[in-house]
Formats: sequence, structure tokens, C-alpha cells
Amino acid sequence: MSFLVVCPTSAIAEGGMGLFKAGKKSVLLVWPRGGEIKAFRGRCPHADVPLDEACFDGETVLCPVHNWRFDAANGACVTHAAQKALHAYPLRVVGDAIEVDLGPARPARNPAIGSAPPA
Ligand code: FES
Repeated sequence: MSFLVVCPTSAIAEGGMGLFKAGKKSVLLVWPRGGEIKAFRGRCPHADVPLDEACFDGETVLCPVHNWRFDAANGACVTHAAQKALHAYPLRVVGDAIEVDLGPARPARNPAIGSAPPA
């Protein structure tokens, strides 16, 4: 687990959504009405496009490219149930910061591993 600070808790309100940067990745934070803040990869799983223009009605995230809707509580596609869901990230609130675990960091390249032994 490697949590990164995404934004302060004041950056999002119940019923709201925001697209944030964490490292090189974009993170979509949504706070469904009556629910808990959720974090998703900031790209649509349908065609892997950024969700910059996505809309949120307090329950579902709408990707405007093909108008698919995703349940903000779990990321499931509600337009086509058999399709991929939004990719969820673990989220935690520490003090007044929202932190998201984007997964394991890519290991540093080690040229010694996997290379041929010296002649
Ligand atoms: S790219 Fe998002 S619904 Fe098609």
C-alpha cells in the first residue's frame, strides 16, 4: 500500500465530484449523496479516455463520450451491466487530507537483473 495525498477534504462536497492529479495519474473522487467518498481511476473503462468532461448527478457518473453511466458507490457500469466498471482505488481520510492508494509503485529498473553475465 502506498497512499498519496490527493486533495484536502474541503475540495469535495457530498453530491459532488472532482478530477485530481496524484503523481502522474488522474483520480476521480466522487461523493454519492448519502454515501461515502470513493476514488476511481480518472479514465473511462470503455475506451480509456479521460473523464475530464464527466458529469455527476449525485448517484452516477456520466461519461459524455458514449453516455455510459457508472454507479458512484461501486463503479459498476449501469448502462451495460456486462461492461467493465470504473477502476476503484482504496481511499482513506487522514486529518483533513484525502489519500488514495494507486497501487504498487513501479520498481526501479535494475540493469543487473535479467542481463547476461559478463563474458
Ligand atoms: S468512452 Fe466512456 S462511454 Fe465510451
